[in-house]
Amino acid sequence: MLVDQTVAIIGAGNIGRSLIGGMLKGEEFEASRIRATRRNPTALQELQDQFPGITVIKDNVEAVKGASVIVLAIKPQHVWYVIEEIKDAVSDDAMIVSVLAGITADNLEEAFGMELAVIRTMPNTPMIVDEGATAISGGRHATADHLTIARQMFEAVGKVEEVPEYLMDAVTGLSGSGPAYVYMFIEALTDGGVKQGIPRPQAFRLATQTVFGAAKLVNDTGKHPAILRDEVTTPGGTAIAAVANLESHGLRTMLINAVATATSRSKELSELKGKK
Ligand SMILES: NC(=O)c1ccc[n+]([C@@H]2O[C@H](COP(=O)([O-])OP(=O)(O)OC[C@H]3O[C@@H](n4cnc5c(N)ncnc54)[C@H](OP(=O)(O)O)[C@@H]3O)[C@@H](O)[C@H]2O)c1
Repeated sequence: MLVDQTVAIIGAGNIGRSLIGGMLKGEEFEASRIRATRRNPTALQELQDQFPGITVIKDNVEAVKGASVIVLAIKPQHVWYVIEEIKDAVSDDAMIVSVLAGITADNLEEAFGMELAVIRTMPNTPMIVDEGATAISGGRHATADHLTIARQMFEAVGKVEEVPEYLMDAVTGLSGSGPAYVYMFIEALTDGGVKQGIPRPQAFRLATQTVFGAAKLVNDTGKHPAILRDEVTTPGGTAIAAVANLESHGLRTMLINAVATATSRSKELSELKGKK
């Protein structure tokens, strides 16, 4: 169970901070069981002010001593020297949770030089507002209990899907990079409204709420999006006229290709990052 763990977040930036917030939202998890590190003293103080009960320190080695869950939330380019720094202080029954894009569970185990339970994850930034989409996969020594603990951590900040590790690049192309595509969609929808004469602030609010509301309707009803689309396309009406226009420009193919392109790029970057 997550509540029984002592968690060290190494690199408490955007992702790490969101996880701390998520873990502390539930009543049962004690702040005193969380340690968080980063290097910048001002940012460390801000972290302490935001989460008064947790231990905030600069020293990664002190942070991992006795920790049962170690979250690697630094940038991928920092991971190898951080592992070199902490590996002798990590207990052999500790579990490593990595949010590092493009670094495999095998890469991490090898760098620690121990048969550690590694859970690889790919979250996305909507976790900052507790609406993240996170994929998790277990390395060779990870058990169902380890996966449960990781799931509990990320369910505090959104939804979680367990996937085999070979799909992590595809997940990066879909939900990891997906927020960027949706932001473009909101921006373009706003411009569409502005072009028709709606003042920009109102067009922006209407576009944002339309995307949010449509996603919530899909999520809450569980209906296939095609059925929901059929429900709003009156014969001879406005929506079907626009849908035909989007189809003629290949909206679906564009998105399928966008995910494929991001997946390929993630594979390329993984190959580079896996090499120390
Ligand atoms: N953002 C995303 O959309 C996203 C999605 C999926 C996965 N990820 C992964 O999540 C990880 C973190 O991303 P992020 O957006 O949270 O980055 P971030 O905000 O830059 O956080 C990384 C933190 O690591 C700290 N840090 C750097 N070197 C350190 C060291 N030696 N010891 C301790 N702390 C150190 C930095 O703080 P100081 O400079 O103060 O040390 C910084 O706060 C990355 O590996 C990324 O691949 C991100």
